Amino acid sequence: MGIRYLIADWDKHKEQLSSVRYEVFVVGQNVPPELERDEADRHYNHILALDGEKPVGAARLTNDGYIGRVAVLEEYRGMGIGRELIRQLEEVAFELGFNQVELGAQLHALPFYEKMGYQAFGDIYMDAGIEHRHMKKNI
Ligand code: COA
Repeated sequence: MGIRYLIADWDKHKEQLSSVRYEVFVVGQNVPPELERDEADRHYNHILALDGEKPVGAARLTNDGYIGRVAVLEEYRGMGIGRELIRQLEEVAFELGFNQVELGAQLHALPFYEKMGYQAFGDIYMDAGIEHRHMKKNI
């Protein structure tokens, strides 16, 4: 299957990035839309997965080295798209001079990130009504 990955620019790709995030977080996980949206997105690095022209995956790296908003449409899960989004964002982070990345993982996604070498630390906390833990990885 030919999934393309695009290092995305918020101004240019905000519709595609937002459509995946809206579907996954707002529709799929009942996150309020105003919590999903973030004015700071235009300053961050983004990656977009496309099946043809259809946006199917998205993730971002903040300016302080946090990976977040990792989202793959339900019907595209389990195909390695999430892993590739993370791998490419780690490359971006490395090029920007980071030697470590962090993220806030929803508890159910902990094993997904552990498979990619992330280690959980600290207590469980709530964000958007969902249980999370901090995780980090040296890159
Ligand atoms: N629990 C355990 N293992 C998981 C998992 C989960 N929830 N999701 C994926 N994995 C495993 C896969 O089986 C695969 O393992 P393998 O290499 O042994 O085959 C590996 O992790 C990579 O999976 P991949 O196919 O790349 O993941 P994906 O494209 O399905 O994306 C998410 C994973 C979490 C991004 C996707 O399920 C998603 O968008 N979920 C809803 C939004 C969300 O929860 N995002 C994370 C917020 S912290």
